[in-house]
Amino acid sequence: MKLYFAAASPFVRKVHMSAIELGLVKQIELVSTHVSPGKENATYTDGINPLGKIPALEIDDGSIILDSSVICEYLNHLEGNNTLIPERGPERWRVQTGHAIANGIMDAAVSNRYETFMRPEEYRWDLWVNEQWAKINQALQWFENQKSDSMETIDQISLACALGYLDFRFADFAWRERYAHLSLWHQRMSETTAYRETAPD
Ligand code: BEZ
Repeated sequence: MKLYFAAASPFVRKVHMSAIELGLVKQIELVSTHVSPGKENATYTDGINPLGKIPALEIDDGSIILDSSVICEYLNHLEGNNTLIPERGPERWRVQTGHAIANGIMDAAVSNRYETFMRPEEYRWDLWVNEQWAKINQALQWFENQKSDSMETIDQISLACALGYLDFRFADFAWRERYAHLSLWHQRMSETTAYRETAPD
């Protein structure tokens, strides 16, 4: 399998961490892929992902699987034990809801990265940026209230990648000062092989 990849993307990191946790990473070739607002990549949009986003997974019959959440579902299915995503019951919907909320943190943080770093200053929209920070804080408070210690399922992996992205791109966001449980939890998560081996440079 080929994973179209950039280490800075938290969505890519989620898939990469999941593949390590599931013991599938040796079956995956990482293909470095550059996507960025305002930069055309016709080879990628024509052949791999019409939306121009990473990650994408090319499986051995040549089919492409999108997006990061569907790729994780595919890897979970391939491994066969449902260790990442429970197969059924209330636990499945609890995990997938946490997964969606953590994805939302990543969406809002990447959006603010583009808005504050890439968009020319005269076009920036503070109201939009502040709304994204509010979403991020509300979602982190939601996880803080869960007081979960688990680390194996996709909601937790996705949360770890979201927090890692905040550290990577917004070091002064200082989320640890507001979310004490998440801070301790993230400390433990950051000692795992999957987290360490997928850290962006
Ligand atoms: C980043 O450089 O922050 C980034 C790169 C790819 C996807 C998302 C974010």
